[in-house]
Formats: sequence, structure tokens, C-alpha cells
Amino acid sequence: MEKLRIALQKKGRLHDDSMALLKEAGIKFNTGSRTLVAQSSTFPIEVLFLRDDDIPQTIADGVADIGVVGENEVEEKDFKLTIAKRLGFSKCRLSLAIPKADEYKGLEYFEGKKIATSYPVILKKYFDKMNVNAEIHEIAGSVEIAPGIGLADGIFDIVSSGSTLVANRLKEVEVAMKSEALLVQAEGLSEGKKALIEELLFRINSVMAANS
Ligand code: PRP
Ligand code: ZN
Ligand code: MG
Repeated sequence: MEKLRIALQKKGRLHDDSMALLKEAGIKFNTGSRTLVAQSSTFPIEVLFLRDDDIPQTIADGVADIGVVGENEVEEKDFKLTIAKRLGFSKCRLSLAIPKADEYKGLEYFEGKKIATSYPVILKKYFDKMNVNAEIHEIAGSVEIAPGIGLADGIFDIVSSGSTLVANRLKEVEVAMKSEALLVQAEGLSEGKKALIEELLFRINSVMAANS
């Protein structure tokens, strides 16, 4: 019998919310999140624990069949994927933030400024749309410390509770996009795998209806 392979975030908010949803859907995994692959004893599914940034490509390459990933990563990476379900959790926004003490009157603030981000594609589209000429500086992580150490004038990053910004003396000044967790699937899956996804979606829909 066929088995589905699902890619989930290794650790972080998306990990916790995804595991909670699957558990409520009756899908349990028999290991902790320190192993990179885990089998379920209650559903024909195997999970790969990855960095969220790597999930879209893993599915597009056919290494995993489905996955849970933030809309922000899907938008940034632009692989051919099908959105099977908007999951409604891990909600956040992608925002521009600047030093708390700076005066902000509008987007012209960013003209000629250097902005650090892990989302250069989304930010470039946003600046182009808004007619802002700024320098985009791509960094993989710890984006929020960039202004404090003189690496950039501002940042473009995920904001959820806002506490990371506060801790780094930054303030959110523009929201470029809103994001939530998506269940995404590869294109061209076998009929057997599609049937398993149908069953998974049926269970997820039941959990979401019960929780709403
Ligand atoms: C994101 C973002 C900030 C933090 C903001 O990182 O990069 O570090 O969350 O959340 P807050 O507003 O609630 O403080 P996260 O660890 O979620 O994802 P990442 O590992 O992809 O950076
Ligand atoms: Zn990440
Ligand atoms: Mg982070």
C-alpha cells in the first residue's frame, strides 16, 4: 500500500501547530522531533522534519508529497505547488520595521536605505509596486539584529506577536503581506496518494469545523 510523505517544520511555531492539528486528526508519530524522519502507526504517512524555508522545494522536487508551510515561504520561493487547504493557524504578517526612535512619515523613508531580509523576492516586488528605490540586503537569519549592529537601516521580516521587534528596539511601519499556514501538495501525484490526501483533508476539515 502507498504511503504519504509529509514535510513539516523541524522546530518552531509552525511545527507545534502542525503536530497539534495532525494529533487531533488522529495521526500520531512515534518519535520526538529530534529525529528527522518519523513513521505514523495510525495512518499510512511518514513525516520529514525540515527547515520551513526548504519545504516548498522539497515538495516541488517530489521528495515529499505534501507539507505544511507558511504562505510567505510559498510566495518567496515560487515553485509549482498546489494549495490543498488554508489552515488558518500560524498567522503572521511580513512587515517593514525601523529603529523605534526614528520618525516615520511614509514609504519615502526607505528611499536609498538598506533593508535586511530573508524575503528578497517579496520585498523587491513590494518596493517595485510602491516605487521605492532601496537596497535589499539578503541575510538568512537573525534579521532583527541587523539595524542594531549597523548592517542595515531597517528590516523586512515576519511579525507575529511583535515581541521580537520590541526586544530589538524596532517598530513596524508597513505591512506588505499577511500569511498563514498552508497545506500544499505536489503536482502529478498518483491516484493512491491523492486518495490518502482526500482522507487526510476530510479529517483536517472535521478538526477545523469542531474548533471553530
Ligand atoms: C519569525 C521572525 C522573527 C519572529 C517574529 O521567526 O523571523 O524572528 O518570528 O515573531 P514575533 O513577532 O512573535 O516575535 P520564526 O522563528 O517564526 O521563523 P524563521 O525560523 O523562519 O525565522
Ligand atoms: Zn525559517
Ligand atoms: Mg526567526
